[in-house]
Amino acid sequence: MQGTVAISGAKNSALPAMAAALLTAERVALHNIPRVRDIITMAKLLAFMGAKVGVDSFPGADYSIEAQALTHAEAPYELVKTMRASILTLGPTLARLGIARVSLPGGCAIGARPVDLHLSALEKMGAEIATTHGYIEARAPRGRLRGVRIRFDKITVTGTENILMAATLADGETILENAAREPEIGDLVGLLRKMGAKISGDGTATLKIEGVQKLGGAEHAVIPDRIEAGTFLVAGAITSGDLTLINCNPEHLGATITLLQRAGAVIETTGPHRVRVHAPRKLTAANATTEEYPGFATDMQAQYMALATQAEGTSVIDETIFENRFLHASEMMRMGANISIDGHRAVVRGPAALSGTTVQASDLRASAGLVLAGLVASGETIIERVYHIDRGYERIVEKLKALGAVIARVHGQNQ
Ligand code: EPZ
Repeated sequence: MQGTVAISGAKNSALPAMAAALLTAERVALHNIPRVRDIITMAKLLAFMGAKVGVDSFPGADYSIEAQALTHAEAPYELVKTMRASILTLGPTLARLGIARVSLPGGCAIGARPVDLHLSALEKMGAEIATTHGYIEARAPRGRLRGVRIRFDKITVTGTENILMAATLADGETILENAAREPEIGDLVGLLRKMGAKISGDGTATLKIEGVQKLGGAEHAVIPDRIEAGTFLVAGAITSGDLTLINCNPEHLGATITLLQRAGAVIETTGPHRVRVHAPRKLTAANATTEEYPGFATDMQAQYMALATQAEGTSVIDETIFENRFLHASEMMRMGANISIDGHRAVVRGPAALSGTTVQASDLRASAGLVLAGLVASGETIIERVYHIDRGYERIVEKLKALGAVIARVHGQNQ
């Protein structure tokens, strides 16, 4: 594959940014929001809650959200079941209205994914929380949360975002220890600051938030999607191609770039927002362990596994973040990959000649992994349940096609 591809805005930054608009009665205008399914779900949820959500209604902005009068402090099951990130409305709604009701997200294909850390932190801030009839019902006594010191037992991305947002309107200072350091957290801090929040420590594991009485409107462009960028880096490497990614932030791609370089890809940062990848015919096996940022992202694991099937030697892939995130492996094995799974470890022996067949996508990043495997498989690969990919990749078919991939969306197939 050859050519230049523009990276879209980060879904996982856009979702908390949209939820943050619940914290103020004023307008929050957001730029660089990717046109993907999860964003549409979040927009529907905010509209259900009573926010005015305008798409392209603000000059140049993708979304303009005005949560002047919130009529429903609730995220209903119908929306939460299609997108777990709906939990991001809990912190801001509770902080703004003193009450919130959010359907409990269930497990998902990649693991149990509890939200206990979000809830225990909110309880520390004074919230009274009950979980009944499948809903989290939270109430802040006298309508306000209070600032406290919180230490997460485990690093959680959306948990950090929820507490960060809740703390901006709490009484007093919140100190959040063992916080996530993902770039999406820094981006949310940037937006909240523009809204008038007092936050320090972003980029470190300890965030300090001084609650304020009220937040105001703001205009903000979300950061580029580092997982989409990583996916295209793998696409370039796995096809021995030559791709240039534009509108990306190479600083956020450190662990992925290092890993792909170890596997033999040549990756150069050719500008502040540009990266070029090209690769020799032969890739070499390299081990990978998923970790919290700045480590190698779990959201890149399936895509890397596709590459590992093509690399000479044995690559050991350890998944440390989610308990069940290897469902794509069995589908890749159906395509001829040599992979063995033992608990949290996958051992991939390559290179294997993949051959196209019908496979099933189990989650967003698994779909991306299967698309990448399909790019190098002989013959035709049909990916079913491809709706997963539309949750988080903007115009993926068009972007890959423009780079020379033979790929089409087949309508009328078994979804
Ligand atoms: C975010 O999910 C991302 N989602 C995920 O991206 C990403 O895979 C994940 O972080 C890890 O990087 C969004 O940003 C919207 P966690 P999140 O809480 O916040 C456990 C994608 O493909 N945990 O950081 O839900 C949890 O089970 C998605 O775009 C608890 O035990 O993940 C997991 O093992 C998929 N209790 C670990 O922590 C809690 O209360 C990390 O999860 C919360 C989490």
